[in-house]
Amino acid sequence: MSTQAAPRPATARAYPNIALVKYWGKRDEALMLPVAGSLSLTLDAFATTTTVEVRAELTADEFSLNGVAQSGDSLGRVTKFLDLVRSMAGSTQFAVVTSINEAPTGAGLASSASGFAALAVSAAAAYGLDLDRPELSRLARRGSGSAARSLVDGISVWHAGDGDGTSFAEPVEAPEMSMIIVTVDARQKAVSSRTAMRRTALTSPFYPAWAPSTEQSLAAMLEACHDRDFSRIGRITETHALRMHALIQSADPPIRYLSPVSIAVFDAVAALREAGVEAYATADAGPNVAVISRPEDAQAVAEALAEYGSVRVVGAGAGAMLIDPDDATPAEATA
Ligand code: DP6
Repeated sequence: MSTQAAPRPATARAYPNIALVKYWGKRDEALMLPVAGSLSLTLDAFATTTTVEVRAELTADEFSLNGVAQSGDSLGRVTKFLDLVRSMAGSTQFAVVTSINEAPTGAGLASSASGFAALAVSAAAAYGLDLDRPELSRLARRGSGSAARSLVDGISVWHAGDGDGTSFAEPVEAPEMSMIIVTVDARQKAVSSRTAMRRTALTSPFYPAWAPSTEQSLAAMLEACHDRDFSRIGRITETHALRMHALIQSADPPIRYLSPVSIAVFDAVAALREAGVEAYATADAGPNVAVISRPEDAQAVAEALAEYGSVRVVGAGAGAMLIDPDDATPAEATA
């Protein structure tokens, strides 16, 4: 890591990722170190594009999201993250952060992952930090754990690591796959992942089994990716997702993210497999379901699931990157 001289405005674009082996729980909340490693697919849709401009005359940071000035927790998380960047850069100057998020609001598409990945890349550049990919992944992790993985193209593994220096995401070779996103309910989730993770860790009697079982799933998943074994990747994905939701439901008071329609989608995916179309379902901390299939089956899967909600077929996308500020229009408008 080295610092450059003059700060300049910087714009970055990042995409959300959906985990096939989930991150659920921190062993260090201040450093955002996870209890176990995880693995995900960075998508090629629903980008967040963020510009950071450091301005000497400001007395506080300013943050606007989709054209709306933010305050409270939303601004607080950005300011806390910029404090970290400033401490690394030796700066005391505030910044204007302008962010456009293309994911439908509250659709459970990990907007904190694309948000903090885009903020990490743009803020590092704007404050004159010259960081490599692992360093940017570690930085994004401090904003939101899952953001560490949005620094990487396609499939990535986020290592639990043995401390801040080794807990970052890096690419994994895997067979090509499609993801069918089924939005069954676009409302904001009732309990945030951060709160729910904490409650699960404090109250679930099953929590002690979670980290070792996730490490086992991750080891099996890495082997399956290496072997280009899509069926095994799919089985591990679905089993691990249902284990995470079972764990979350066992908190006190319980938290249930999956709705009856989400369960119906899992059943419909099982029926597709019975009929010979290989698809496997997963879901993050919300009712929406993400289904993986081989690319050649994606259209059939999308058609079969259209009755449960709005359906969108996506593929592997790029890790967070700096872009020309003139391209700061929505990615999907320019694609
Ligand atoms: C269910 O990364 O949003 O999507 O680190 O507290 O910001 P914080 O949580 P976050 O949690 C993501 C949880 C998940 C699983 C995953 O993405 O691996």
